[in-house]
Amino acid sequence: MKNIELALVVNGRKEELSIPPNRTLLEMLREDLQLTGAKEGCGHGECGACMVILDGRTVNSCLILAAELEGASVVTIEGLKQGEQLHPVQQAFIDRSGMQCGFCTSGQVLAAKALLDEKPNPTPDEIRDGMAGSFCRCTGYTKIFDSVAAAAELLRAHRGEQP
Ligand code: FES
Ligand code: FES
Repeated sequence: MKNIELALVVNGRKEELSIPPNRTLLEMLREDLQLTGAKEGCGHGECGACMVILDGRTVNSCLILAAELEGASVVTIEGLKQGEQLHPVQQAFIDRSGMQCGFCTSGQVLAAKALLDEKPNPTPDEIRDGMAGSFCRCTGYTKIFDSVAAAAELLRAHRGEQP
């Protein structure tokens, strides 16, 4: 199979790659760019462990063909922190113990970031709906819910809004 030449932006950095045409975005991130935060859980679009942000929207990267991403912009968990400063959503997951084994966590954090970018003051139902595509085998979800609510508060504080 002949490789395809691909140029895109990953975590703000321009990447030029030569990849097999059947490479998924998840494989490209993990194997070509050594960005291993996104995980393969189910491998067919059901668990959210492979979630990344593609052109501003969350996607399950196991379902996306990398060859279709010429000129696209991808954000992975590795691209969230600024310098040594964790993103407030990452900090909230640590503060509220929103993880146990951590396998689902990068997907959970990116799902929460995308939710809070769109809905800075989510209701409990909006948090549950926004996080519904990310499965977790460990936490029972309560601490994930608490982490997302805490992240919303932290982001409000960063914007200088009153609680
Ligand atoms: Fe992609 Fe489960 S590995 S959705
Ligand atoms: Fe283990 Fe979610 S923390 S699967």
